[in-house]
Amino acid sequence: MNVLLTGSAGFVGSHLTERLLADGHTVTGVDNYISGQPGNTALFVDHPNFKFIQADVSEGIPYKAAAFDGQTLDFVLHFASPASPPHYQQFPIETLMVGAQGTQHALELAHAHGATFLLASTSEVYGDPQVHPQPESYWGHVNPNGLRSCYDEAKRYAEAITFAYHRRHGVDTRVIRIFNTYGPRMRPDDGRVVTNLIVQALAGRPLTVYGDGAQTRSFQYVTDLVDGTVALMDQPESGAVHAPVNLGNPDEYTILEFAQVIRELIDPDLEIIHEALPADDPRQRKPDISRARGLLGWSPQVGLRAGLTRTVESFRQSGSAAAEPAERTPVTAE
Ligand SMILES: NC(=O)c1ccc[n+]([C@@H]2O[C@H](COP(=O)([O-])OP(=O)(O)OC[C@H]3O[C@@H](n4cnc5c(N)ncnc54)[C@H](O)[C@@H]3O)[C@@H](O)[C@H]2O)c1
Repeated sequence: MNVLLTGSAGFVGSHLTERLLADGHTVTGVDNYISGQPGNTALFVDHPNFKFIQADVSEGIPYKAAAFDGQTLDFVLHFASPASPPHYQQFPIETLMVGAQGTQHALELAHAHGATFLLASTSEVYGDPQVHPQPESYWGHVNPNGLRSCYDEAKRYAEAITFAYHRRHGVDTRVIRIFNTYGPRMRPDDGRVVTNLIVQALAGRPLTVYGDGAQTRSFQYVTDLVDGTVALMDQPESGAVHAPVNLGNPDEYTILEFAQVIRELIDPDLEIIHEALPADDPRQRKPDISRARGLLGWSPQVGLRAGLTRTVESFRQSGSAAAEPAERTPVTAE
């Protein structure tokens, strides 16, 4: 299959590219590096089935200009968007634009080529949820103008326009709602809870927990996310495949427990310190994955300790201990 992937130079995009190439597909990556890393493009640049277009998808996707036109295009996977709080807070307008114009450009491309479209949405569409765990039928509890709103509302709009193209133009669309995902190739300075704590621990610094650490998150290892995404791509079109699907790991940990696991893995003597809880920080987040289990036969396979061990090892190898953890903005992670 020919696949166009926006956000290919990002953390998730790089793992998805790796898997799709390994499965024998051709991947055209598109990225403007606003939060991605050129090193993630360099990983595949010599692969005969990989092509890359450097472009801002909010401005358009120069698929024709890149002379790839004339080929069939089977899938458009729209993963471009700053995803970590420091990134989307630094670029709030760009984040809204890539959720709005970027999604529309990707949908137009899919529509023009008769390709299937898949949107990387997020658990952030549930906001600070009042239903726990969160099933796809929950409409969410989102502050429309808070610090996280540039991201949450961009993704909610992205879902809305995806459904509009499906209803109006009959585009075969699919939507995954990704819950906190971690793994190798995250930027050490991206400010998400996983990277901040690993970088602090590798540098021998105290681990910072915001508030009392009783807020919970569920952490998914990136290969589980990729497996779920590919399983949804593999589904033949039917009424059921168009509805959003949660992809996340339902094993729930408090942030304090999570910091303790990282401490055990890296240095049991490290201190854990507490700082004030940021605004709009969701108290609980946990996916209900019944739909993914039923529709895709999918469930996460990599436990927290195994996934963290691999992630810590990759950070060690890439010398990430030297990085400064991101200065925390008033929101915490996806
Ligand atoms: N990692 C997670 O825990 C998580 C959770 C929920 C949803 N998601 C979604 O998955 C996708 C990938 O997230 P990630 O963690 O890999 O983030 P990332 O920041 O590592 O990757 C996003 C990529 O998109 C690119 N990009 C952003 N705006 C662009 C634009 N206008 N034009 C072209 N490229 C652009 C960035 O440069 C980057 O390479 C995002 O859509 C994100 O919202 C991720």
